[in-house]
Order: sequence, then C-alpha cells, then structure tokens
Amino acid sequence: MREVSELNRYLVVNQNIEPVVATGAGAEVFDEDGRSFIDLEGGPGVASVGHCHPKVVAAIKSQADRLLQVPGRYHSRLTLTLAERLSALTGGRLTRTFFANSGAESNEGAIKASLKHAFNTRKQGYGIIAFDHGFHGRLCLTSALTGISKQKRGMGTFGTFPGIAHVPAPYCYRCPFGAKPDTCGAKCADAVADAIKTRVPGEAAVMIAEPILGVGGVIVPPDTYWKKVGDILHSYKVTLIHDEVFVGFGRTGKWFAHDWYGTQPDIVTFAKTIGGGVPLGGFMATETLGTAFEPPDHFTTYGAKNQIGIAAAHAVLDVIEGERLLERAASGGDRYMKNLKAIQKKRPILGDVRGKGLMIGIEIVEPATQAPVAEAAKKIEKGLVERGVLISTTGVNGNILRITPPLVITDAQIDRSCEAIDAALAEATDS
Ligand SMILES: Cc1ncc(COP(=O)(O)O)c(C=O)c1O
Repeated sequence: MREVSELNRYLVVNQNIEPVVATGAGAEVFDEDGRSFIDLEGGPGVASVGHCHPKVVAAIKSQADRLLQVPGRYHSRLTLTLAERLSALTGGRLTRTFFANSGAESNEGAIKASLKHAFNTRKQGYGIIAFDHGFHGRLCLTSALTGISKQKRGMGTFGTFPGIAHVPAPYCYRCPFGAKPDTCGAKCADAVADAIKTRVPGEAAVMIAEPILGVGGVIVPPDTYWKKVGDILHSYKVTLIHDEVFVGFGRTGKWFAHDWYGTQPDIVTFAKTIGGGVPLGGFMATETLGTAFEPPDHFTTYGAKNQIGIAAAHAVLDVIEGERLLERAASGGDRYMKNLKAIQKKRPILGDVRGKGLMIGIEIVEPATQAPVAEAAKKIEKGLVERGVLISTTGVNGNILRITPPLVITDAQIDRSCEAIDAALAEATDS
C-alpha cells in the first residue's frame, strides 16, 4: 500500500495527520489495520449520534433508492416536515428554516437575511457585531466575522467586510479586562453597548455570536451574560444570530446551547450534527426575519433539495430523541468534569477545565504563570494519538485541548480517554 505522505501531495496543503481512518462505529474510528481510536473530536462536532449510526445509514440507503435531488423550484414533503420539526424544537418561536450545505454558508445566509431586514426596517446603518475569539467559517464574510487573526494571515482583503466591530468575548479565565468573574459587573456585556454607540457605522443591524465558543477554545460565558446582552440588543433593535453550528442539537445537554441562558435569538444557525455526516446546514428564523427576503434573494442548489442530507437529518433527530442523547451529553459531561478535575489537582499544567455537557476545553499552561503553552498541547495531542485517542488543539493561543466526542460515548470510553489524557499529560510534563 502506498504511503499517505506520498498521496497527500495530491491534496491542497492541509493539516492532516495519521492515523488513516477507514471505518467508524459509535464513538470509535478504526485505521486501515483495524486499530481503534476513541474519537474525542467527533467529526469535529459532526458525529454526535455516533459514527455510522445504523438508523442514519438505513435512512440514507433507503432515500438513495427513491430520490437524491429535488429539481430546482419544487416542493419536497421530506424537507417541509424537517423544517416543521426544527421549528417545534424552538417551541415554535423560530418559524422558518433555510437549508444550506455547511456552517459557513448558513452563517452567510443568516447575515444576509439580517441585512435585508435592516433595509426593510429603514435602519440608518448596517453595522455587524461579532466576538473576539469567535469562529464562523472560512468563506470571505465568515472569515471577517471570525475573531482569530491568524486564520486570515497573508490573504490580502480576503476575510474583510465593511461594518464589522469585534467585541471582547466573555473569556473569564483570561478576562480581557483583567477582572474576576464574580466582581466584574459584566464589563464584556457593556462592551456591546459601547460598540453600538461608538464603533459601528451609523446603526448596528446585527450581532452574530456562538452562545458558547468552540474553535476559540470552549469559552463558556457566565450565567448572566446573555440576558444582559440580549436586553442591550433588544433596546437598539439589533438582530441576534446565535451560531449553533458546533454546539447545537444536544452537545451541551440541551437542544441548543442558548437554552442554558434563556436568550431569544432572532436567528439560529446550524450544521454539523444535523446531517449525521452528510453535509447539511441552515438557519432558523423568527417569522419577521424568515420573511425578510423576497424571492429570488436567496437560494442554493443543494440544501433543501439534497434529499440524502434531509433524510439523514430526520434520522439524526429520531436518534437524539429516542436515545435520550441530551441526558447522555449532560451525564457524560459530568463524568468528564469529575475525572478531569481530579487529574487537574495533580497536574498543574492543566490550568483550566471548563465546558457544558460534551463541549469541554482544557487549557494547557505554564503552572507558575498560567501562560498558554501551545507546544505542550501539541505534544499531548501526539501522545494521545499514540494511546488510541483523537483530540484537537484549538484557541487563539493553540493551547486548548477540545473534547467534543459523539454523544453516544460510553462511560468506559470516557474513563479510558481520561486515563490516556493523564498519561499524556505526565509524559509532556516529565520530558
Ligand atoms: C461555530 C462554527 N460556525 C461555523 C463553522 C463553519 O462550519 P463549516 O466548516 O461547515 O463551514 C464552524 C466549524 O467548525 C463552527 O464551529
């Protein structure tokens, strides 16, 4: 068999590493020699119902025999009933869905609808607010929305878009204001009002934000943050888009991560989990935002028409409901937290452990100063692969290990992966 290093020359430059993954089942994947790995990346965030869940596979196979793609402008009952199901998940508050193919495309559509709404309501400006450390995809507008500079390096004007003001994320472990969470008075929330008053051109039209940040390093806002920001946005009639591409559909232990905070977003974007491995994304909107476009303002060839993705999504929702995966995400998350906090006590290189449900970040630091250490995080990632565990490093400083496994991960797999994390931490600390 030819080496992958030789074959990889045919792909555009990428970050791919070994193993060469050949098959998957539940929370595990297997390489070409049949060696198993616990998948703590989960896709990333895609394989929430597990790799190759039999119900998702069966739905895809059965749909493939019937219809793959609906021609251009025609209805599909499968798509319409999926939109109805999604609306029900929001208690009927978000009434209309647009289906797309990826997270970035879903976010671009959501911003486009918000700007059209701003036009329809005669706003005196088109300002967009987004988070430092936020991540929204790698197309031009979504790169511009992303608050991670290194992802736009050396690309000229690609990743810039007029009218965007970034605001500090509520990153309490490394507070941008140098404050303590219980005494800070929510300075990060006030920064949103400041941006509306001082930094957007004219008026702010929309804020887009992950309710819990993923790629930025699993940043979990304090309990009161979103209520305060929601009130500010409401008072300035600014549309709120929650990007739930990573955290949506149960990962945090609720259907949507913003459910933890009680915010009432005008739009929720989604992708990853919903397709169970088949590309599908989209956005759900209130009646007002969902009717802001006039045909043919917005459309995509696949999305709502791609019946394999839509059939897979129905099966994914069936599995999340039938296997009670919200509860599983919550209990699995608790188990990780307990294990990781115990490890943290003996390994000070583990500076912070945080998360909600099965969206967990562990920050690798220099114990004396808490400074981020990316090299050690990379070493731990490598040590974990050697021990049969796949994990990714993330965050602006590259020092955060992100644990986002399939929600079906078993207690035994959680414990085994924590033992491997402990051993890899020991190796990185001792060497
Ligand atoms: C929060 C968030 N938004 C958007 C995206 C982009 O999704 P995609 O890669 O499907 O375009 C991601 C991908 O990781 C994400 O985590």
